[in-house]
Amino acid sequence: MVDVILGLQWGDEGKGKIADYLTPKYNVVARFQGGPNAGHSLDFEGKKFVLNTIPSGIFRKETINLIGNGVVIDPVRLREEIERIVNECPDYKDRLLISQKAHLILPTHRILDAASEAAKGDAKIGSTLRGIGPTYKDKIGRSGLRVGDILESDFPEKYRAAVQEHLNIIQFLGFTDFNLADEETKFFSAIEFLKGHQLINSEYFIHDCINKGQKILAEGAQGSLLDVEFGTYPFVTSSNTLAGGVCTGLGVAPKHVGKVYGIFKAYSTRVGSGPFPTELNDETGEYLRIKGHEFGATTGRKRRTGWIDLVALKYTCMLNGVDELIMMKSDVLNGMDQIAACTAYSIHGERSEQVPSNLCNSSIEPILEWFPGWGEDLSHTQGFEAMDERFRNYVHFVENYLGTKIRVISLGPERESTLVKD
Ligand code: GDP
Ligand code: IMO
Ligand code: MG
Repeated sequence: MVDVILGLQWGDEGKGKIADYLTPKYNVVARFQGGPNAGHSLDFEGKKFVLNTIPSGIFRKETINLIGNGVVIDPVRLREEIERIVNECPDYKDRLLISQKAHLILPTHRILDAASEAAKGDAKIGSTLRGIGPTYKDKIGRSGLRVGDILESDFPEKYRAAVQEHLNIIQFLGFTDFNLADEETKFFSAIEFLKGHQLINSEYFIHDCINKGQKILAEGAQGSLLDVEFGTYPFVTSSNTLAGGVCTGLGVAPKHVGKVYGIFKAYSTRVGSGPFPTELNDETGEYLRIKGHEFGATTGRKRRTGWIDLVALKYTCMLNGVDELIMMKSDVLNGMDQIAACTAYSIHGERSEQVPSNLCNSSIEPILEWFPGWGEDLSHTQGFEAMDERFRNYVHFVENYLGTKIRVISLGPERESTLVKD
């Protein structure tokens, strides 16, 4: 069976921490979409790591980690990432599998990303500039290069043809701020490095695991509100971040998808441009950013902050068929006098509990409900029922609104700061 853990907001919900926390229950952890735009932080035994492409099960010695066909891989970044973990995981090669069908991010994809963002001016997406959009564009346009291609003798010719097409567009956009020769040297060296890894037909591997009764955890990247279909389009990423993406991103049939864990912060954040109805452009927003260390794990950019948006969360619970919720960073709200939750939108003066089809063009005001804060100390050592009543009330309100139980509450970045509620 393939269980899924994914973000219900705009990414950075804490997927890395929880995937690592849940890993001991699973034989395999698999990424099914996204690429090095992701930054998943793990914090254990006093050590901190940020993973971009490698699944978050890599630090548990019994677990196989699969980079699935739906992922886009930058060989240069993957190599750097491996170099960061190799001391901690000297046996990583035995436990890291890479799909031959995963698409490659070429140096010119990164340049195209920068060129396209520069051409958009104020309308830019605020992408991570990792080449994600251009790589998925080539995949859908049927001109991409895949990991399996590096094993073929005509790879250099295929690479040249792709690069020439990209350079034509880059020239058309008038973008000149790059040095391709340097990038290519690193790229071809990283391609040789990649060849020394287990490059497999991962769909067969997954099916063997399922047939043997093994348990697989599919680890989402980004968040549901960044999904290319249902997110805040066009301010989204270029992949299917929802539970549905597991089937195409790993090659498993829907009947093999089991539990869906939906993960969210007790407030909201977003990096990059795009609508954010509950955004706080004030002292409270700044307070949340500082207290929650809300700076991008991949790019270091400031994350925008705001109150929890239950309308949007209910929508993403619906789209993903979430079975159990995991609430993160509750500790960041400690000590606040009052805490708000958005329970409806006012759209052109009309109350609505639905996310409109175009969140970008509507004049949306959040309708907020206020809750008393719960003081500084949120000790959880005696279990949920012994926690501050005001905190429990907030948790129950969120559960009731979303019609789904919160199963795990996270109260700090480390593995230990995790409370299983029921
Ligand atoms: P991901 O992309 O969903 O894996 O999330 P990120 O790693 O980008 O961002 C989450 C950040 O919050 C990281 O710095 C984590 O170490 C940190 N974090 C995770 N859970 C908690 C928590 O419960 N409380 C606090 N204060 N920090 C947390
Ligand atoms: P994790 O997995 C937060 C955002 C970017 C930008 C938009 C498109 O760590 O949660 P892209 O580079 O994908 O073309 O950028 O999506 N974005 C993320 N925001 N967390 C992420 O990943 C993100 N990956 C992309 O900031 O707004
Ligand atoms: Mg992140």
